[in-house]
Amino acid sequence: MAPEKLTAKLSLPGGKEASLPVIVGTEDEHAIDIRALRNDTGYITLDSGYMNTGSTQSAITYLDGEAGILRYRGYAIEDLAEHSDFAETSYLLINGKLPTKAERSAFSTALTRHSLIHEDMHHFFLGYPPTSHPMAVLSAMVTSLSAYYPDSLDRNAPVDLHITRVLSKVRTIAAFSYKKSIGQPIIYPKNSLKYGENFLHMMFAVPSEDYVVSPVIAKALNQLLILHADHEQNCSTSTVRMVGSSGANLYAAIAGGILALWGPLHGGANQAVIEMLEHIRNHGGDYKKFIDDVKNKRDNRRLMGFGHRVYKNYDPRAKILKKMCDEVLAHLGIKDPLLDLAKGMEEIALKDEYFVSKKLYPNVDFYSGIIYRAMGIPTNMFTVMFALGRLPGWIAHWKEMVEDKDTKIARPRQIYTGEKARKFLPVEQR
Ligand code: ACO
Repeated sequence: MAPEKLTAKLSLPGGKEASLPVIVGTEDEHAIDIRALRNDTGYITLDSGYMNTGSTQSAITYLDGEAGILRYRGYAIEDLAEHSDFAETSYLLINGKLPTKAERSAFSTALTRHSLIHEDMHHFFLGYPPTSHPMAVLSAMVTSLSAYYPDSLDRNAPVDLHITRVLSKVRTIAAFSYKKSIGQPIIYPKNSLKYGENFLHMMFAVPSEDYVVSPVIAKALNQLLILHADHEQNCSTSTVRMVGSSGANLYAAIAGGILALWGPLHGGANQAVIEMLEHIRNHGGDYKKFIDDVKNKRDNRRLMGFGHRVYKNYDPRAKILKKMCDEVLAHLGIKDPLLDLAKGMEEIALKDEYFVSKKLYPNVDFYSGIIYRAMGIPTNMFTVMFALGRLPGWIAHWKEMVEDKDTKIARPRQIYTGEKARKFLPVEQR
C-alpha cells in the first residue's frame, strides 16, 4: 500500500492558504516541502543560520541530536570506531556499503598508489612564511591539485580517480606542510604502511633514524578520523555542496569545505579549546572563575568545545574521545595538566544551571585536542587533522549531490532591507 500523502496548511495574510507537501525520512523525520511556495504565493521563508531548513535529502548520515545518536549509512558510530578503520569507513561513506574483502583491498591499494604529489608542488611549500597557518596552506594546495588534474574540470569525466587522489594526497600535503614548518626534510609516503600509519610516518619519521608507529597511537588516530568522518549538513559540508552545486570541480569544492572548517565555531574549535585551557593555566588555573566569566558573557567568552547546533545531549563522539584520551595518555605515560582542567570544567558545567538549561554538552572538539597534543601534533595542525578526517564525508556529499538529478545550483533568497530606489547625484551636489 502506498504511504499516505501528508500535507501541511499555511494561512497567509489576506486569507490566502497554501497547501504544502510533507516529506518523511526513513527515521520518521518530517519536513514541509516549500519549493513551490514562492511561485504559488509570492512568499519566501526566512531562516538565518539555517536553524530550521533542510537543504537536501541525503542517505549518508543519520543524526539525532536529542537522543545522542550518530550513524554512517546505518552503522552506529560506536561500532565503526571500535571495529572499522578509516579507509574502510571512507569506502562506506562514499559508496554506501561496507566493502567486501576484495573491494577493501583494492581501495586500500588505490589509496597507497596515489599518495605522492607532483614534485613541482614541493616548491609551493617554500613560498609560504614559516608562520603560515597550515589550513591556509592546505586549502591552497588542494585547489592547486585541480591544476595538475585538468580533466577534473570536465563535469562528464569519471570521478573515482579524483576521489582516490584527494583522499590520499591531502594526507601527504598535511604532513609535508608540517615538515616544512619545522624545517625538517619531507618524508615520502611508504607503501607498506596503512593509511593512518603512513600519515604518522610522514609526520614524525626523520631520514636519520628508524621510526616505528605505535599500534596504540595508530588505533587512536584511526578512531579520531572515523569520529570526524561525517556529520551531515554542517557548515563545511554544506559549503562543499554549495560550491559543487555551481559545477565547480571536486578539488575546488573540498578546498571550500576546508576554509569553512577553519573557523573557531566549527573545526577550529579543537585549537580554540587548547588555547582556552592554556590561557586558564597561564593565569593561575582558576577554571571556576573562567566558567563564571562564560556564564556572565564577559568579553564574549564561550566554553570552547561545548555546545552544538544539533546535539542537545552528550555528543556520542565526545563520549568515545574522553575514554580514548585516558587510554592514550596512560599508554604514553603523559600527565597533562590541561586534561585535569578540562575534566574539572566538564564536571562543573554538566551540573551548572546555565549549561544544563541551554543543553550545552561537550562536543567532539573538547577532548580531541588533548589527544592530538599527546601524539605530538602541534596545536595549529589540529584543524588540519579534522579536515583529514572529514574528507570522506565531504566527498560522499559532493558525489551524492552531483549524482542527484534534482540538484540545482544553491541560491538562497533574501529580504532586502536597504534604501528604496533613489536618484544618483553627481559628486558636486552631494
Ligand atoms: N559557552 C557558553 N555559552 C554558550 C556556548 C558555549 N560554548 N554555546 C552556546 N552558548 C549559549 C549562547 O551564548 C546562547 O545563549 P543566549 O541564549 O543566552 O544568548 C545559547 O547558548 C545558544 O547559543 P547559540 O550560539 O545561539 O547556538 P548555536 O546553535 O548557534 O551555536 C555553537 C552552536 C556555534 C557550536 C556554539 O555552541 C558554540 O559557539 N560553541 C563553542 C564553539 C565550539 O565548540 N564549536 C565546535 C562545534 S562542533 C563542530 O563544529 C565540529
